[in-house]
Amino acid sequence: MILAIDGPAASGKGTLGKRLAAHFGLPHLDTGLLYRAVALSLLEAGQDLTDEAAARRAAEGLTATALDDDRLRGRAMGEAASVVAALPPVRAALVEFQRSFAASPGGAVLDGRDIGTVICPEADVKLFVTASPEERARRRARELTMRGEAADEAQILADIRTRDARDSSRATAPLLPAPDARLLDTSNLTVDEVFAAALALIAAARGQHTSP
Ligand code: CDP
Repeated sequence: MILAIDGPAASGKGTLGKRLAAHFGLPHLDTGLLYRAVALSLLEAGQDLTDEAAARRAAEGLTATALDDDRLRGRAMGEAASVVAALPPVRAALVEFQRSFAASPGGAVLDGRDIGTVICPEADVKLFVTASPEERARRRARELTMRGEAADEAQILADIRTRDARDSSRATAPLLPAPDARLLDTSNLTVDEVFAAALALIAAARGQHTSP
């Protein structure tokens, strides 16, 4: 089973993806890490985030080990990732990596922005996970505090709005639910409730019945 999970920043897709992957015994790819790793590689080399040629080279040279770097998970890298992610050559260079991951024997869980629309349009199940910007800012602030990073919730909310606008308005692979995606609004749900709701949506998508 290929399971595609898309949604905006801090909507809970990463946590959900990890949990679903463990539940179904499938490998999980947080595709945001790919864009974060491209951004980190440019910043480390002192290159501009909008330098298309350098960004394409960084994307083409990406290896799975680069995704383990803890610096990728910081707030600054999320912002930088959203800048390089708008560059079409970067997106094109990362397609193969993601598709071959999705082709893992038995399937895979991938989360991102364009998994159901561009990377795996043939995915067995597509979930589009959302939450209000305010709730997402609260979650991101909590997450950053736990990482030991400073977290100004008002600033994070402003960043989330900017990033939503950038991700949704870009010409290539904008953040958008696939026509056949199932929507999951997590604003008022706990992590366990989101997981349960996702399992029910997956069962429904696969034509299975679940007890309430
Ligand atoms: O959870 P959060 O959105 O903060 O981070 P992420 O999922 O790691 O994504 C960081 C940025 O990478 C996003 O704002 C998108 O611009 C970009 N991205 C993308 O364009 N396509 C993907 N499949 C995944 C991430």
